[in-house]
Amino acid sequence: MNYTLPKKTSLLCFCIYLFISSGKSIQSPSICHPNDQKVLLQIKNHFHNASCFATWMPDSDCCSWSGIKCDDNDSNPGRVTVFRIGANAVNCISGQIPPMLGDLPFLRKLTLNFQDNLTGSIPLRLSKLTRLECLHLCCNNLTGPIPSFWGPEFESLHLLGLHLNYFTGTIPSSLSLLPNITSLALFSNLLTGSIPESFGSFKTNLSLTLLNNKLSGPIPRSLGQANFTIIDLSYNQFSGDASFLFARDKPLQRISLRQNKFKFDFTNINLPKGLRSLDIADNEIYGSFPKRLGLLQPKFNDVSNNNLCGRIPTSRRLIRFDTSDLVRNNECLGDILLPPCKMLMCDEKQILEF
Ligand SMILES: *[C@@H]1O[C@H](CO)[C@@H](O)[C@H](O)[C@H]1NC(C)=O
Ligand SMILES: *[C@@H]1O[C@H](CO)[C@@H](O)[C@H](O)[C@H]1NC(C)=O
Ligand SMILES: *[C@@H]1O[C@H](CO)[C@@H](O)[C@H](O)[C@H]1NC(C)=O
Ligand SMILES: *[C@@H]1O[C@H](CO)[C@@H](O)[C@H](O)[C@H]1NC(C)=O
Ligand SMILES: *[C@@H]1O[C@H](CO)[C@@H](O)[C@H](O)[C@H]1NC(C)=O
Ligand SMILES: *[C@@H]1O[C@H](CO)[C@@H](O)[C@H](O)[C@H]1NC(C)=O
Ligand SMILES: *[C@@H]1O[C@H](CO)[C@@H](O)[C@H](O)[C@H]1NC(C)=O
Repeated sequence: MNYTLPKKTSLLCFCIYLFISSGKSIQSPSICHPNDQKVLLQIKNHFHNASCFATWMPDSDCCSWSGIKCDDNDSNPGRVTVFRIGANAVNCISGQIPPMLGDLPFLRKLTLNFQDNLTGSIPLRLSKLTRLECLHLCCNNLTGPIPSFWGPEFESLHLLGLHLNYFTGTIPSSLSLLPNITSLALFSNLLTGSIPESFGSFKTNLSLTLLNNKLSGPIPRSLGQANFTIIDLSYNQFSGDASFLFARDKPLQRISLRQNKFKFDFTNINLPKGLRSLDIADNEIYGSFPKRLGLLQPKFNDVSNNNLCGRIPTSRRLIRFDTSDLVRNNECLGDILLPPCKMLMCDEKQILEF
């Protein structure tokens, strides 16, 4: 009994000693850099100190504020690397993108997903964020052009998500100079013009999603040189040829040209080896069905509402699906010697008899 008091006291002292002596080495890497803290407080102020910034108190470490992360290694201790405000801030933010975000020079991930609530255009000051790996501005009411400052200095940028906004103007050709971009999501905006010629020169395997814009005209043949994993051009007003997007050795997994005015011969298309989803419905594509189309599951594929005719190629190796949905509403172009396409295609038995 006599020993307990001294023991407890010494343990307490030891803990205090530990706390004081380790405070620096353990905590300092995550203690907010004063410059970054100042900028974050300006951002809070920009949003009129909205309620979602309750944890952003000047006397606390900004690295622990909600939506914020600091460098997790010792190279730039206390520098803000992640700014993610979105799902955690529903119903509390409105207004424009704070230009001060450009003054957080170590940012690697920036997400501002406010479910329709951000307005105005992308501030020029964001051009200073050259360390960005991922920029997510989707699902707001942003307007104005897509800036042309994203280019070669943005070495680490691999995801650029500007989809579901109201951006206007043309697609900047400088985007093709992003050396490590693997996902470029521009869908559901009000973009006009065609795709820049330079988009054939991406050096990465790229997912390019442009669906649901007001893009028009022929697409550049240069795109045949690029390595798309996903290309979605659906629901625009593109016209002319797109056959050069297909080649056996392309990394293409999914392509959608749906609801445009593409017009080319589908007969000799060489479907990429890894293709899982092909949607060319609602165009003016003609010719007959290429080899290996019968391999594709109708669930993920649609060639309906075109001017295709002939039979779906099959062989013993190919799995047979019910292809009637896949090919519905095609009309033969011109060739009056063939029986009506619908008869040829919709009923496997008739095809075989024929
Ligand atoms: C936000 O809070 C700061 C500090 O309390 C204050 O100086 C500033 O005026 C406030 N801003 C707005 C827009 O209310
Ligand atoms: C540490 O951070 C720097 C950039 O701030 C980065 O380049 C580096 O890869 C990081 N190192 C580790 C081990 O995460
Ligand atoms: C948008 O901002 C307004 C005004 O600040 C707010 O009332 C509304 O809840 C916000 N909506 C979302 C989805 O954050
Ligand atoms: C965003 O756009 C939608 C659709 O046009 C509109 O209903 C909504 O009020 C807009 N929100 C803001 C914050 O401007
Ligand atoms: C970006 O690409 C360059 C060359 O294309 C490469 O040297 C560099 O390591 C890449 N950086 C990142 C962060 O992936
Ligand atoms: C696309 O990939 C192929 C094979 O990996 C490569 O030879 C070609 O240079 C790539 N294209 C571009 C534009 O980088
Ligand atoms: C692109 O994909 C191909 C295979 O589809 C792969 O061999 C190649 O390494 C990939 N290239 C890059 C830069 O990831």
